[in-house]
Amino acid sequence: MNILGINAYHGNASAAIVCDGRLIAAVEEERFNRVKYAAGFPARAIRYCLKEAGLTLADIDHVAVPRNPYARLATKLFYALRMPSFARERARVLVKFTGIPEALARAFDTDPEKIGATFHRIEHHQAHLASSFFVSPFEHAALLSADGLGDFASTMWGVGEGPRMRIEGAVAFPHSLGLFYSAVTQYLGFLKYGDEYKVMGLAAYGQPEQLHAFREILRFEASTHSDGFRLGLDYFTHHRTGPEMSWAEGDKTPTLGKMFSDEMAKRLGRLRTPEEPLEQRHRDLAASLQARLEEVYLGMLRKLAKRTGCKAVCLAGGVAFNCVANGKIFDATPFEQVYVHPAAGDAGLAVGAAFHVWHQLLGKPRSFVMDHAYWGPGYTREEIRRAIDANGIAQSGYSITEMPEGENGKELPQRTARMIADGKITGWFQGRAEWGPRALGNRSIVADPRRPEMKDILNRRVKHREIFRPFAPSILAEATAEYFVKSHPSPFMTLAYGVRPEKRGSIPAPTHVDGTGRLQTVTHEANPRYHALISAFRDLTGVPVVLNTSFNDNEPIVCRPEEAIDCFLRTQMDALVLGDFLIVKS
Ligand SMILES: [Fe+2]
Repeated sequence: MNILGINAYHGNASAAIVCDGRLIAAVEEERFNRVKYAAGFPARAIRYCLKEAGLTLADIDHVAVPRNPYARLATKLFYALRMPSFARERARVLVKFTGIPEALARAFDTDPEKIGATFHRIEHHQAHLASSFFVSPFEHAALLSADGLGDFASTMWGVGEGPRMRIEGAVAFPHSLGLFYSAVTQYLGFLKYGDEYKVMGLAAYGQPEQLHAFREILRFEASTHSDGFRLGLDYFTHHRTGPEMSWAEGDKTPTLGKMFSDEMAKRLGRLRTPEEPLEQRHRDLAASLQARLEEVYLGMLRKLAKRTGCKAVCLAGGVAFNCVANGKIFDATPFEQVYVHPAAGDAGLAVGAAFHVWHQLLGKPRSFVMDHAYWGPGYTREEIRRAIDANGIAQSGYSITEMPEGENGKELPQRTARMIADGKITGWFQGRAEWGPRALGNRSIVADPRRPEMKDILNRRVKHREIFRPFAPSILAEATAEYFVKSHPSPFMTLAYGVRPEKRGSIPAPTHVDGTGRLQTVTHEANPRYHALISAFRDLTGVPVVLNTSFNDNEPIVCRPEEAIDCFLRTQMDALVLGDFLIVKS
């Protein structure tokens, strides 16, 4: 049985395909149309998923769409009556959603009548919860989804047991942890969709001097019996104007309207415009925001643990990308095991909706664990060779070596490790592309973590991003406890742990200013070639870590070999390992 999941007309448009309960492919539309966080209809992502599965649209039995316009209808109507512009926007979105079968038919040049699949509408947060629990290794777990807003809710929690989830509660519009973080992110002068993670990085440079103010802006009742949290609505505007999000078009990055009111400036001081320099006051505000988010998020998780008695928790929703908060779960709550879906944001809804249909609606038993994130497009040696030839890079002063070994060869990892140890910034393009926003060793730029200057060099030459943002370490899973204060696996770079004080000097480049690292733990089983690379680096240097940043320069992560070559040439990387091909400046 074949189930196609589609996240359409929403940020991070994506598609996924599940065949007989196993994920075959999943990818974001942005990787194809090269528009970051692209919304719209993910026609190319769907086409890729079908191709990877060797199927046509006629073979699809069910289509799962992570949106249910009828969820929380009474609340929606209440706000629609108060906000006519919001009602118009909702109506427009509803028309788009009810037109998904037609959009699918158009994309495949067929008649909607000829699509035999059954269409299902899965509520946004139920799809988030399903995306994490149904692909986790846990038979029994507590579940939490938290984001900005989806189907008029911002948070949902429950319990997963085998092939079933039981929803226990939700927080509805206008209260939202995600919108809280987004509003203050805007206030601090970071206006782009998805800028929250920059503020999370900035927080490490400040002190939570304004925590008391943020306790008014986001209110929380710690008692086990009260549900959720509340925003101090005087500080926000979205409950009066409707959340202004423009993301219907696929060729544009979504944008957000202003979410904070003048009261916020009265309480926190003058807002920062994007052009203004960052001052210590801004860093302290970021630290206070992060501290308050952690108090409430971890408080909710504590309550969830007490109510359910579970030792494991599954997380999804955009807030679950807060790796700093996630890293504190083990000390701050009774949970001992954590699973975060690698595409915890709205891209992951495509996977979640498909698995929701398979388990929750069809009652099928569990048979799949997502223990790696390589569900996107891969390219053959011949395709890579053609991309190299077409570019003419060999004629432009680069030497190209083709390695013969294939997957298990030692020479390619050893030569690459030597270049990294020599300080060379190396593009590392292997296998199938990562699902989710983190590069995890298949579309990565790797560098020497031992060199304190490497962060500045990378920023200056390749990444061109804010200097305060940290780079991440990829570590051999078996060495985690030696370098970090926690050793619970973090295969998808969704947890940040303290680097052991005695090891901070060994890996200064990916150690953040507060002594933490947003680590990726790498196993041989999940990624043999990346594991071999880091092992070779360890054999050379004694350090089982490489610095890993995404293979891009202010654009979606590269997907095809052509894009990798372009990015390599455009930036000032020293070397590019493209499958079995080693390309260096000669
Ligand atoms: Fe969401």
